[in-house]
Amino acid sequence: MLPYRLIEQRLQPAVLAVLPDADPATLQVRPCADLRFGDYQTAALMGLAKARKMNPRALAEQVLAKLDMADLCGRVEIAGAGFLNFRLLPATLTSALESAVRGEHMFFSRAAQPRSIVIDFSSPNVAKPMHIGHIRSTILGDCLARLFRLLGHRVVTDNHLGDWGTQFGMLLLGWKRDLDRATLDRDPIAEMERLYKKVSAECKETSATLEDARQELVKLQAGDAENLRLWREMIALSQHQFDTIYGRLGVTFDFTLGESFYNPRLKAVVAALVARGLARESEGAIVVFFDDLPALKEHPALVQKSDGAANYATTDLATLAHRLETWHPAEVIYVTDGRQQLHFQQIFAAFRNWQLAIGNWQAPIKLAHVWFGSILGEDGKPFKTRSGETVKLAGLLDEAEERALKVVTEKNPNLPESERKEIARVIGLGAVKYADLLPNRQSDYVFSWDKMLALSGNTAPYLQYAYARIRSIFRKSEVRSPKSEVQAVVLVALEEIALAKQLLNFGLVLEAVAEEYRPNYLCNYLYDLAGGFTRFYETCPVLKADEPTRGSRLALCDLTSRVLKQGLEILGIETVEQM
Ligand code: ARG
Repeated sequence: MLPYRLIEQRLQPAVLAVLPDADPATLQVRPCADLRFGDYQTAALMGLAKARKMNPRALAEQVLAKLDMADLCGRVEIAGAGFLNFRLLPATLTSALESAVRGEHMFFSRAAQPRSIVIDFSSPNVAKPMHIGHIRSTILGDCLARLFRLLGHRVVTDNHLGDWGTQFGMLLLGWKRDLDRATLDRDPIAEMERLYKKVSAECKETSATLEDARQELVKLQAGDAENLRLWREMIALSQHQFDTIYGRLGVTFDFTLGESFYNPRLKAVVAALVARGLARESEGAIVVFFDDLPALKEHPALVQKSDGAANYATTDLATLAHRLETWHPAEVIYVTDGRQQLHFQQIFAAFRNWQLAIGNWQAPIKLAHVWFGSILGEDGKPFKTRSGETVKLAGLLDEAEERALKVVTEKNPNLPESERKEIARVIGLGAVKYADLLPNRQSDYVFSWDKMLALSGNTAPYLQYAYARIRSIFRKSEVRSPKSEVQAVVLVALEEIALAKQLLNFGLVLEAVAEEYRPNYLCNYLYDLAGGFTRFYETCPVLKADEPTRGSRLALCDLTSRVLKQGLEILGIETVEQM
């Protein structure tokens, strides 16, 4: 077991001996921000004391008297307002590393209680190109899915395609009036986009066009065979484009149940909400009111328009009901941009009230809207092409690979082209993904090719390079896997102790990412780890050291490379052995 888990485990009986009603789940330790004070720290006692109006330091004294850590830690200290600080004994650290060398763990533990988690992400709209705004949802959602799976949870990923809605009225009209078959065959998305833009512009000018488009939509909704056939063709063409991009990004979904999948349920959802008194008629429409929720009191949610049509909210309520029945999740996560915050607050509140009303909320599920900010151009305005259009994902990925190829070629002019191209693919895609995951997701970030492709600084190429550099040590040393050769880890130099301690905290970082849905914590951890490795490698000879130091240091190199690779893999970023 990892040392910080052992500390937590020992903490429990000591705290319970003093406060028998304390919740053991709150007894968590975190790495100390300043290593001079210790390796781990818990703030839990202050919370417990506060809730009981006790003096926190006095509580800490009492707990300390019951605490037996002598075999794990040096003297445990009370600090500040009532923190407990723990310093690992050298033997605790080395034995955790030795068990990692033996392949018993990779510095993280799988969840003690695996949960079923549905992740709704990417979810682009049919007949429109996937643009740069969808990239954040795709990359973030995929990262969360990878992480939760690694931690042992049961993950269901669902791409909630926008394959229904008023845009199809316009598209059908445009398709029937002036489809250009040749362009459609060559570039279906561009042609559908052209048709949509043309009709939608016309609709703003002439009400007759608007009415014609509406009629097409009504026919589609009524199940008109011709319109259904064309609609299916539009979906198939779009799906093909999406799949190409997902393939390049290495992103997969367990399900792609588009919005249209829920059409047969929408009437029943509205009826159920009305029957329970949760929704009522207002000016011909049907609306859910949140009289009991101050934050939403002024924001009722429309679930049926006055023309009888359901909308985005109705679909999301039906979707949630379906997910609950089908996968029994403990948690449902939605990854979209920040502009949908109100929508999800409404959905979560309406769904909760609905389930409470039908007595279906015994085990409340956690509903999380993981939202993110916008991608800006270097001028600080929303990122656009030179001609002012939204940036399309496919072109963006091409450009990333082309630019990375230049960097790779400069560094390795002698590698064969096919190898350079493969490295450039890994670096280019990695750079784009990392640039997206590194900022706090709720802030906007400026898209900069030069920054994201730089080989120094907090970038994917820097981390990929750090990984490849460690692998090259093994090519030189002819040591394959330290696993079979290293008997003992010996930590002497300050830099190697520091690196070992960083490795140890990998799992705590993963847990923090999962808790708050913030991959930036992992990015920063990997960047710090690469820095810690550099300091170690600059001060501690590895290949020239004598045994057992040599083997021990090689093991540290190996473990660092494995954590880097695993960490990048969670971010959806590949590595290469040579760069
Ligand atoms: N298609 C929507 C969009 O592009 C995102 C859907 C998000 N998922 C959901 N269940 N509402 O904005």
